[in-house]
Amino acid sequence: MMTETLKDNVLENEWHPVCIASKLNGAPLSVTILGERVAVFRAASGGVYALRDLCVHRGAMLSKGRVEGDNLVCPYHGWKYDGSGACVCIPAQGKSDTIPLRARAENYPCMEKYGLVWVCIGEPSARLPDFEEFENPDYRPLVCGPYTVHAAGTRVIENFTDFAHLMFVHGGLLGHPDYAEVPDFKVYKEQDRVYTSEVPIFQPVAHSGSEAEEGTTYVYVKEVFRPLAGRLSKRDAATGETLWILLTVLPVTEKECTAYMAVSRNYGFDVPDEQFIRFQDTVFEQDAWIIETQKPELLPLDLQQELNHKADVLSVAYRRWLIELGVRIGMA
Ligand code: FES
Ligand code: CO
Repeated sequence: MMTETLKDNVLENEWHPVCIASKLNGAPLSVTILGERVAVFRAASGGVYALRDLCVHRGAMLSKGRVEGDNLVCPYHGWKYDGSGACVCIPAQGKSDTIPLRARAENYPCMEKYGLVWVCIGEPSARLPDFEEFENPDYRPLVCGPYTVHAAGTRVIENFTDFAHLMFVHGGLLGHPDYAEVPDFKVYKEQDRVYTSEVPIFQPVAHSGSEAEEGTTYVYVKEVFRPLAGRLSKRDAATGETLWILLTVLPVTEKECTAYMAVSRNYGFDVPDEQFIRFQDTVFEQDAWIIETQKPELLPLDLQQELNHKADVLSVAYRRWLIELGVRIGMA
């Protein structure tokens, strides 16, 4: 894949999710962030590191090499880099020869949080999204993904802000077309987030066949707090059982992204995580084909270009916020 680094003064300073933390062991990983190739690895002593995926010697991909102790070894001539990017060994030279100071791979800020590894290829200007439920001992956390989507990351987040599709795209799973009315709700804006008031959505029992309204009312609150990260809570109004989802999207290129969901629940501890993950996989697949076929591919900067309905207030607030922030990638 030919890529070119994409300039975006906002997105390059964001933290982006690059992989599920528990999967980063042994072999280094190659990821692309805004067109920039990045090598991510876990050192033997446990820390996670991200280096520009380009050996300063002859430009080989460091991610094609291997991890040795706390170092990443280039596959071409075996130069070893530590997590800070400093070259600590050049096998072709004698032990007494010094290593040139310029022998250093560019290092990017990298950290582990919410079951994911995060990288920033610029100067991290923002905190990671808060997701305290993931670390609350009364909740059970798990991570879903990666989901590769051939679409702009902004489209994926916008889909997440949408209520009126639940009954159609996810009919039978998250709603039903016979109960498609979305009650009026409010959207609030604070400096670093846009979020809704509570939105109750009725989900009838799948088959029922009876005339009675059998089912469950779920109360949703959705919010977007980073240009490419949103969060929702979905509470069973009767029991208080609550599911939290942090959706976070890595912008690989302008029209390709990888999504992850960190999920936390305060119920169903006896249900295997795999079952929850399969459910989220299905829901995401249902969304993906819509997102991948939407036109225009990039979110229109002109808020009047598409027809907004009152159920779309969060989507409109999200678009407006992206424009205010000056996000360019994923916008047209
Ligand atoms: Fe990496 Fe030569 S290209 S060691
Ligand atoms: Co959906």
